[in-house]
Amino acid sequence: MQVVHTIAELRQLLARFDAPAFVPTMGNLHAGHLALVRQAKPLGDVTVASIFVNRLQFLPHEDFDTYPRTLQADCEQLAAHGCDVVFAPSETELYPQPQTFKVHAPAALGDLLEGHFRPGFFTGVSTVVMKLFQIVFGQSKGQGHAVFGKKDYQQLMVIRQMVRQFALPLSIHGGEIERAEDGLALSSRNGYLSTSERAEAVQLSLALKTLAAGVLGGEHNLAALEQHAMAALAQRGWAVDYLTVRRRDDLQAPGTPDFQPGQLVALGAAKIGQTRLIDNLEF
Ligand code: PAF
Repeated sequence: MQVVHTIAELRQLLARFDAPAFVPTMGNLHAGHLALVRQAKPLGDVTVASIFVNRLQFLPHEDFDTYPRTLQADCEQLAAHGCDVVFAPSETELYPQPQTFKVHAPAALGDLLEGHFRPGFFTGVSTVVMKLFQIVFGQSKGQGHAVFGKKDYQQLMVIRQMVRQFALPLSIHGGEIERAEDGLALSSRNGYLSTSERAEAVQLSLALKTLAAGVLGGEHNLAALEQHAMAALAQRGWAVDYLTVRRRDDLQAPGTPDFQPGQLVALGAAKIGQTRLIDNLEF
């Protein structure tokens, strides 16, 4: 496996391949990321992962400075999982000038849920992903592939729409959420949890299961179900941003005819202590 830090090195390396399969990450890798690499591997003729903590997608009060940077351990894990190339640029390599050209997600998708609670987040994500796509796929002759985890469900949808609307010659693949034994969705931010918070953290996924069970059990008053689920988490000490049931295809609130098996997703974001966790459940 080769680790490169500059765009020029990466382009030179990829020049002899036709169709990269790409997994963008911010590093501090866990089994969820490695599953994405395994999924990417058979899709292309070279497997590329990027590691870059993207300042543009963090709000000023968020954890950009403290986000764990574990390049060496990440590279060891990527090598063990058959990744061929790691692109780990510095901030000045990726943003030699302030990145004032930006990609904005459409408000109907980008301003709700995560976009509502983290304004600018999807602009930051879309901008860096578009730039990484130009760098990784800019010279590829065949169909490229990129894999994103479903844990960031709305992010995956934003990237899919971006690729479609800009007619990028890429297929976007969603990777299933990897969970700890108790059901907590794996996340780099789980490392921030204290022992007691870690024990409590599974309650977010349980709340989503309860929401889904309510709908599947025939309850169509979603507002009441959601209020009840949020109040129950809040009572346990969580600061809840949202717990909600949406249509899978556009993340809008479903009308009654949408209550079909396989059409819906329950999504949640909430803070336990200082750590904000997100999770979702398709049902
Ligand atoms: O999901 C992530 O880790 C990041 O949002 C991504 C896609 C690597 C962009 O910085």
